[in-house]
Amino acid sequence: METSEIRRRFLQYFEDRGHTVVPSAPLPASDPNLLFVPAGMVPFVPYFVGQQTPPFPRATSVQKCVRTLDIEEVGKTTRHGTFFQMNGNFSFGDYFKDQAVQYAWDLVTKPQSEGGYGFDESVLYASVYYEDDEAIDIWKRVAGLPDDRIVRLGMKDNFWSMGVPGPCGPCSEILIDRGPEFGAERDWEAGDRYLEFWNLVFMQNIRGEGPGKEGYPILGELPKKNIDTGLGLERVAYLLQGVDNMYEIDEVYPVIEKASELSGRKYGADPIDDVRFRVVADHVRSALMIIGDGVTPGNEQRGYVLRRLLRRAVRSMRLLGYEDPSLVELLPTSLEQMKKSYPELEADFGRISQIAYAEEEAFRRTLTAGTSIFDLAVKNVQSQGAAQLAGAQAFQLHDTYGFPIDLTVEMAAEQGLRVDTEGFKTLMTEQRERAKADARAKKAGHADTSGYRELREKGVTEFTGYQELSTDSQVRGLLRDGVVASAAEQGETVEVVLEKTPFYAESGGQIADEGLIVADGAKLQVLDVQRPVKGLIVHKVKVLEGVVQPGLDVHAQVDHEWRVSACQAHSGTHVIHAALRQVLGPNALQSGSYNKPGYLRLDFAWSSALDQATRSEIEEVANLAVRQDLPVSAQYMTLPEAREWGALALFGETYDEQVRVVEIGGPWSRELCGGTHVKHSSQVGALTVTSESSVGAGVRRLEAFVGMEALHHLGKERALVRLLSESLKARPEELPARIADLSERLRAAEKELEKVRAGQVLAAAAELASKPKDVFGVAYVGHRAPDGVNGGDLRKLALDVRGRMPADRPAVVAVLSVNDGKPAVVVALNDTAREWGLKAGDLVRIAAEQLGGRGGGKDDVAQGGGTDAAGVDGALAAVEHAIGQSVTG
Ligand code: SER
Repeated sequence: METSEIRRRFLQYFEDRGHTVVPSAPLPASDPNLLFVPAGMVPFVPYFVGQQTPPFPRATSVQKCVRTLDIEEVGKTTRHGTFFQMNGNFSFGDYFKDQAVQYAWDLVTKPQSEGGYGFDESVLYASVYYEDDEAIDIWKRVAGLPDDRIVRLGMKDNFWSMGVPGPCGPCSEILIDRGPEFGAERDWEAGDRYLEFWNLVFMQNIRGEGPGKEGYPILGELPKKNIDTGLGLERVAYLLQGVDNMYEIDEVYPVIEKASELSGRKYGADPIDDVRFRVVADHVRSALMIIGDGVTPGNEQRGYVLRRLLRRAVRSMRLLGYEDPSLVELLPTSLEQMKKSYPELEADFGRISQIAYAEEEAFRRTLTAGTSIFDLAVKNVQSQGAAQLAGAQAFQLHDTYGFPIDLTVEMAAEQGLRVDTEGFKTLMTEQRERAKADARAKKAGHADTSGYRELREKGVTEFTGYQELSTDSQVRGLLRDGVVASAAEQGETVEVVLEKTPFYAESGGQIADEGLIVADGAKLQVLDVQRPVKGLIVHKVKVLEGVVQPGLDVHAQVDHEWRVSACQAHSGTHVIHAALRQVLGPNALQSGSYNKPGYLRLDFAWSSALDQATRSEIEEVANLAVRQDLPVSAQYMTLPEAREWGALALFGETYDEQVRVVEIGGPWSRELCGGTHVKHSSQVGALTVTSESSVGAGVRRLEAFVGMEALHHLGKERALVRLLSESLKARPEELPARIADLSERLRAAEKELEKVRAGQVLAAAAELASKPKDVFGVAYVGHRAPDGVNGGDLRKLALDVRGRMPADRPAVVAVLSVNDGKPAVVVALNDTAREWGLKAGDLVRIAAEQLGGRGGGKDDVAQGGGTDAAGVDGALAAVEHAIGQSVTG
């Protein structure tokens, strides 16, 4: 059965039984403690913990998931994939254990002809949390399982949580016995023979901080008893497709076939190659899905995970012997499979592939640079007669050039060398410790959201700031260092939650409002405004006067000037985005933005620099839209309606049922956005693009000034032009020609000067040639030319002097000059001198030794240099001495 069919049947089965089908949330998790969504239940956490009322009592989904903790295991076991899909059915205080088991058993064992998966009942087992007698009774009653096919397991196996504080509960899994060739009887631990494929979590508790799968405290009960199940889509696929592992299912295997075709190696012929094939197939698919959800490669967090996946895939192809760019072949192959379930990937493939290919290109460049460093290190080790590359070298290759350690090991082995992997590991551990300490420091204050949750339970903060800038309100609560507090005094910085507020909390790229909160006898300055949990607006304030406490009546007042400028900047961002897409085409999609009064920046998918003409065109289109005074409006609608309308959504954002669409000039610009905006585009004022740069593979950044700032910026440029114009005594429009003319003249003058200098140096030639020193019959000219003569001129001088000396007598010319503190020497000799056994190369070497350097060359002319200018006289004397030795000895 095809994977897409397994998924379709699942959703159909539960939809027929009253479950609302919910689309997968994007892979980047909105929970700050998680990088990617690791399980199907994650988007439903607010319903489980009672933070939000679920809009439906039961739901079903196929959630995209990424887990990279076990990345090293990929390809080695049958079941570790970095990207996978989890089919789930969920009950929010509706049905519980009994019904969950009934549904699962029914769908798993129902014949395929009747819409089920048709598993043979006789090889199925159930595991339960060891003290859950109720679950055991249900399995016996509902599924008719005998005692010996129900296994009691401990917390590690049968108690499920997300690995972080939050909802959790005992669970029960359906296992399939794949037969003795996969392992020993009743060995539940190993995981291959008794493969678990459907986990039913009886979500009823809440957990606290703690390590591992067993070492955390259970803090209490959830408000209701819920169900969260997860059926591993890939696992069911390989069981039903009669293949051995998740890499050989229909959605993944074609990439292995393509990799085999490219590399010329066979899958199944060599166990080491097989792991590489599986790594390629797994990682290419994961990268496709992750980029599809708006992540770009980088050095931190999600971007780093993606970078690592792409580089591991490319490297595995190289280890399979394929050195050309490979993603251009592999990514489209993966797309062909994945688009069956995710058609949106095809529409977005231009952007996705651009990002992936650029990253491969970047990696290939680092490989090239790293390889020459590697070769140098190998040469050093070999010249010392050693057989091991130091851990520090391997670490440098990894850290600076992105060389994975196994690549270094393999390349070293090809040169007959070992690598000190222990030393490498120590350095890696040290680096990781440093990174962890940094991360802890960064997180402090925001990771523990319990204080916010406590205040959020008292209700949603109403935002009044779309309609007004000042609102009468009341203090609902206070937080000091993340903990709920009862009062705060003058001089303190605390967080304040109001019943309603006109203050805009930083989001969607727009920074928070500034202003004051005043009350009878109290005054608070608003420093920052955030929304740490959904529905809660928190003001970080400094108490300027008085005391603030819950219940206090206040007047919240946003700084008018600030907000006007913030609106200009945010609307300006939309205008620039629309202009960008009008000029570059629809692929130039925003991937991030930031705006504050007077300034905006916008990151967008594009892989090459924009030339000046394109930048000007974008600026012109944007300013024309401003001048046309287009109306700006916002309205609410459902997400599908917004999509239908062509409103642009941001990647990786999770949107509510009702979304806000901001338009400028009707269809010209339509974006999903919660920000504050001007009412007419002319209120944006002016927009001036100040820079365009790269911020990573396939992503460019435009920066611009808005409104008065744009004018100030232009004013500064005008002043600069005036200054130039005055000092060059030219009208502004003449400046480019004048500067070009000046540089041209400067270049010509420098050339002329060089010629004169060389002429002076050479002018000494006749004089020098006429007064050689006699060294045992050899005519020797040893001369220190003025400082600053370059190597070329020095050579010319030596040859000129030699040419002026009689050919029938041995002649040696040695000339030296010190250039920027560095001495250079040239020795030239004539044929007669060569017949006498003298060699220019030998003499230069002797001179260079005195200069602390090296030299060499042919017998008739040679040059060298060094670092020790004090050795110049010694060098000339050494040449003379060597001539004497040579002709007398
Ligand atoms: N949350 C459980 C899991 O991920 C079941 O969906 O296994």
